[in-house]
Amino acid sequence: MENKNIVLCVCGGIAAYKSVELLRLLVKQGARVKVIMTQSAKKFIAPLTFEVISGHSVYSDLFETGQNASIKHIDWADKADAVVVAPATANIIGKMANGIADDAMSTFILAAKAPFLLAPSMNTFMYESIPVQRNLDTLENDGIIIMEPDAGELACGTSGPGRLPEPEHIAGRLKSLLTPKDLKGQTVLVTAGPTQEYIDPVRFISNPSSGKMGFAIAKAAEQRGAQVILITGPVHLPDPHGILTLKVKTAKEMGETLFEHMTHSNIIIKTAAVSDYTPLDKSEQKIKKIKSEMLLPLKKNMDILKKIGAQKKDQILIGFAAETEQLEKHATGKLIKKNLDMIVGNIVGTESSGFQSNTNEVTFFYKDGTKEPFESMEKEAVAHILLDRIIEKYL
Ligand code: PMT
Repeated sequence: MENKNIVLCVCGGIAAYKSVELLRLLVKQGARVKVIMTQSAKKFIAPLTFEVISGHSVYSDLFETGQNASIKHIDWADKADAVVVAPATANIIGKMANGIADDAMSTFILAAKAPFLLAPSMNTFMYESIPVQRNLDTLENDGIIIMEPDAGELACGTSGPGRLPEPEHIAGRLKSLLTPKDLKGQTVLVTAGPTQEYIDPVRFISNPSSGKMGFAIAKAAEQRGAQVILITGPVHLPDPHGILTLKVKTAKEMGETLFEHMTHSNIIIKTAAVSDYTPLDKSEQKIKKIKSEMLLPLKKNMDILKKIGAQKKDQILIGFAAETEQLEKHATGKLIKKNLDMIVGNIVGTESSGFQSNTNEVTFFYKDGTKEPFESMEKEAVAHILLDRIIEKYL
């Protein structure tokens, strides 16, 4: 999103307040955002809110006076890398589908050639009405990307589809729209999160993996046009949009699910923190605290990655190595032993890297013996650089 020129069109609907958060997210990601509001949108939110966050004056009057005022709609349309209409009301959808240009926003829309993302939000009956659906079909055929509204309770008291999707979700789709589709035609299988190995029905052995690293890779691959399958252990992250997300608990379930989907995947990336050991026997009932000391016999879990490495045909196989010391020695050992194309080594146990943090400090080790260390960066950035290298070196 860095330095991208985005135009955010805000129409008059109760969900207009969510556009403020959308604007904040886009600005935070480095985009240059300009806002156009309809006259009715201004009845819901004051333009000043958007002006302060975007750093630009809001455009809403086609006949405003002042420098360059008369050509603003053409100038903004020329420079835009993408346009997002959120919330998109039945009114603007109707105008767009029929080429009507009678105010600042609709005139701008008609002049803009950039990719469009439309996030409709309105009363369920209005959304499902024949004219609105017909207009949406027309816009879809015109190449405009339309987001499905969320379903739920609406401000008007009814319940059903019509809610504006969450701003993070809209921002993600917008990013996807702007990302080159260099993984089109590839199927990427990603594992994420921890596994839980049950001792009894209420206790398990696990680790602090949040799933953030794996989810970031899955989302980045989806944005770049890949078909993505995400197999995840128990995490607290929402299912990523447009990605087949399969949930497992134990290492055994993760292995079984992975082998089911492995054959039709070209690229397999294993970020999951799989438990190396599992209890020898799982107690059927909750274990009572009778003894002052207790030994728990464990048995080794299958090394899923090693088994894939032994079986893989033309697939590209990437592992992660979570280490607390001697990163290079341990990571390269795993690279060779598990027959990988590449391993991402990360030091765990610090605040800015490894488990749970939003950032990660990684070194890429390649099968030709070379390595590439990186400074700590957002996991999303790690994900994109990893995909860049996979494309450059192995596709
Ligand atoms: O989820 P986050 O909070 O964002 O944290 C990210 C992370 C720290 C979990 C991630 O960056 C990471 O390092 N993942 C690998 C964790 C791990 O299990 O490392 P390992 O060195 O123990 O295993 C090496 C590789 O073998 C891994 O790809 C692992 O998925 C795989 N493995 C391990 C054991 C096993 N029984 N089967 C496996 O497939």
